[in-house]
Amino acid sequence: MKGLFITLEGIDGAGKSSHVEWLAEYFRNQGRCVVLTREPGGTPVGEQLREIVLHAPMATETEALIMFAARREHLDVVIRPGLARGDVVISDRFTDASFAYQCGGRGLSEDRLAILEAWVHGDLQPDLTLLFDVPNDVAQARLSAARAPDRFEQEKRDFHARVRAAYLRRAERYPHRIRVIDGSRTLDAVRAQLATILETL
Ligand code: TMP
Repeated sequence: MKGLFITLEGIDGAGKSSHVEWLAEYFRNQGRCVVLTREPGGTPVGEQLREIVLHAPMATETEALIMFAARREHLDVVIRPGLARGDVVISDRFTDASFAYQCGGRGLSEDRLAILEAWVHGDLQPDLTLLFDVPNDVAQARLSAARAPDRFEQEKRDFHARVRAAYLRRAERYPHRIRVIDGSRTLDAVRAQLATILETL
């Protein structure tokens, strides 16, 4: 069976993590092996890089390079082997997050980021990206109730508005790959929309 690479994206507080297990179950019920993973992270080196990039102050370029260093390792150790086995690899974030956060949020040039993308995984893109979208106010209210914020979650409102706008621009640019999910609806309504999308795979 051909491997399937699915990524989940969205601004912090968009609710994507509430659906990860449900998605995994959906594919297991079809007899598929599922690999659940995340970025930054997903490998021992990647998880160490995650700690650094989420908490230590640094230049925007450093941040982007660390995201791609962790991604390079993730591709080698988790994503490519999983796909080669024919598994469904579900990653909570991937390169769309770098375009949204480092370019949209921080202002890094997309041309620069595209060079890193081509270098690290020019031959590989997700088969499907589920973009959980919610208005920034809804996301902010969810985050305020959650754990201690990391460096990204601490950013001001206009940063998150730029990240959201960048994600939506990518969805317009790659409509066949990126499907926008209205994350402000009930869990059941979101799952019904997810099921409809997954049936088309
Ligand atoms: P998470 O909270 O969804 O696990 O993501 C960690 C944070 O890292 C989130 O605020 C988004 C950010 N991030 C980037 O800025 N660039 C990236 O390439 C990735 C993968 C995540």
